[in-house]
Amino acid sequence: MQNWGTGLAITGSGSAAPGVSLSNAELSQWLETSDEWISTRTGIQARRLASAPESLVTLATAAAQQALAMANLDPTELDLIVLATSTPDDLFGSACQVQAALGAKQAVAFDMTAACSGFVFGLVTAAQFMRMGVYRNVLLIGADVLSRWVDWRDRRTCILFGDGAGAVVLQAHEADQLLGFALQSDGSQNSCLNLAYQGQETPLTAEISVDQGRFTPITMNGQEVYRFAVRRVPEIIEKALFHAGLTTADIDWLLLHQANQRILDAVAQRLSVPAEKVISNLAQFGNTSAASIPLALDAEVRQNRIQVGDCIAIAGFGAGLSWGAALFRWGR
Ligand code: COA
Repeated sequence: MQNWGTGLAITGSGSAAPGVSLSNAELSQWLETSDEWISTRTGIQARRLASAPESLVTLATAAAQQALAMANLDPTELDLIVLATSTPDDLFGSACQVQAALGAKQAVAFDMTAACSGFVFGLVTAAQFMRMGVYRNVLLIGADVLSRWVDWRDRRTCILFGDGAGAVVLQAHEADQLLGFALQSDGSQNSCLNLAYQGQETPLTAEISVDQGRFTPITMNGQEVYRFAVRRVPEIIEKALFHAGLTTADIDWLLLHQANQRILDAVAQRLSVPAEKVISNLAQFGNTSAASIPLALDAEVRQNRIQVGDCIAIAGFGAGLSWGAALFRWGR
């Protein structure tokens, strides 16, 4: 077996969002809501919506191509593709379609489902393969098209979500740039946020029936999820910092899953991280689930706001319930 026994560096990023943008004002054409309510409660002003021929696979592929170009890596050099998503085009998984679209012939590819924690969980998963020396060049994608799965008449949920994809390239690197992480799950609170399968008994014969139901739109207890995030996210970041031997003063950028501006502000305040270090793209994209962290990361990198060596604290949280944080330095 190959064994490079090494660390990793994040050497490229990319992102893709659908062309169609839906503003709060447009939403209020059919929903009893307003731009003022949504903006003040969430910070969201618009969200992108995927429509054919855009799909989970096309968005993920476009983001991946950009990340590979930035890393100056040919797709044929990839060893592994991890696609963090809860909304694949195919329930069997969409990572292999992305692999084919990229022409990444040597790469093994699989989907990973951890909802809005997907990118953080995916980063840590990919890092284990790399630290073991099994794989050298890894593509991690976070992508979701939740617009397919929200009830567009439910004003408590549909205002929050949008579609997009973000990707990073991870490469073997002697000095490990993943400084620390912590992950957690609590299935006892699973009912707070679901995109659940609802069974329906379908008889095949007089004695035998099968369950042929369907997935039902997202349901959420907004206040519970809000309380969970504001309490658990600072804790998990502190834990990751402890593992890395760092403190909040070492954080150059705080990049949280983009769920709600009030959550971002509250977490930053609890950690005493100043507002200018908090990255937010909520206004234009809303909550894009597994895509939100790499989508926001890529924009900052491309605007040269994030510099090589900057210490970035990321944290994902959401359905499961699941949450996790990781600290890394950008670039080699
Ligand atoms: N427009 C106008 N009014 C709305 C509305 C909307 N889109 N959605 C809910 N309301 C109404 C409610 O019906 C309620 O009215 P009532 O008091 O007459 O019953 C009132 O506004 C307050 O509702 P509430 O649910 O208490 O609002 P809130 O302040 O908790 O804000 C969220 C709701 C969803 C914005 C907030 O709870 C939240 O962001 N939670 C976290 C959700 C999240 O991030 N989920 C994803 C995690 S990955």
